[in-house]
Amino acid sequence: MSSYPDPIQALRARYAGDMPLERAPRTWSPALDLLLSHRSVRDLTGEPLDADLLPTLVAAAQSASTSSGLQTWSVVAVEDSARKTRLAALAGGQRHIVEAPLILVWLADLARLHGMGERGAKPTEALDYTEAFLVACIDAALAAQNAAVAAESLGLGVVYIGALRNHPETVAAELKLPARVFPIFGLCVGRIDESCEAAVKPRLPQDVVLHREAYDAEGVAASIARYDEATLAFKAQQKMPLQTWSAQMLGRMAGPASMSGRDRLKDAIRALGFPLR
Ligand SMILES: Cc1cc2nc3c(=O)[nH]c(=O)nc-3n(C[C@H](O)[C@H](O)[C@H](O)COP(=O)(O)O)c2cc1C
Repeated sequence: MSSYPDPIQALRARYAGDMPLERAPRTWSPALDLLLSHRSVRDLTGEPLDADLLPTLVAAAQSASTSSGLQTWSVVAVEDSARKTRLAALAGGQRHIVEAPLILVWLADLARLHGMGERGAKPTEALDYTEAFLVACIDAALAAQNAAVAAESLGLGVVYIGALRNHPETVAAELKLPARVFPIFGLCVGRIDESCEAAVKPRLPQDVVLHREAYDAEGVAASIARYDEATLAFKAQQKMPLQTWSAQMLGRMAGPASMSGRDRLKDAIRALGFPLR
């Protein structure tokens, strides 16, 4: 699935022309082509997916690295339209959740290890610590991203749904999650509608995120100003509301009122069985 005839074009789209290299990279691969052409797709058709797809995506997900081999994640595949409608309502009414034929809800899952301890009468106190929750979230995110890239490699569209964390306890009840299992985010998967005009969205200039040998924030403000200009041009082209990246991100970070209910996440995580010691 190559959308770009050459790496320079791929990099130009990803960085809105703010190039991390002065010439074409000496090394390139079809996988890089695929990764650099990622865009979230919110225009998905309801067309059913091949029955082999789900086990294939999960095999890709299970091929991701996992902290100490713990495999502290699970995934619920939702295809039932009534359940998708209820999940969409919990996620602020996002229509692609209803329209996509498949929603994968990725879970931080410490219940499996806890159950093993109980059955073997062995202590599993380490599961009570914040470290275990973090490990489970990291494992689930790596697995999900492998599945997302696998779906994209097959020409399908994906979009993550973090808004499932607006109401984690209700999502957990909907999916019948046991204690010590937390829904981190969803992933809509489906065929891309012909009308979809989503383009590759430019990222921050590389000098903002890449530090050589030690962290160095010098020049960040100037680079962000450049990025703000570039994203305004991108948004105008995409007919999106004209707001700089800085203004948009600062709006999201303003305070609890801008967090769609996620300001109470620590309470929700604890309520779902993670003491976070
Ligand atoms: C963990 C996570 C949660 C996200 N949640 C949502 C969401 O609830 N709704 C949505 O439309 N997009 C969601 N997104 C997609 C981001 O908005 C998108 O990745 C970002 O704007 C960059 O655009 P791109 O993926 O097209 O490059 C989420 C992405 C991630 C990684």
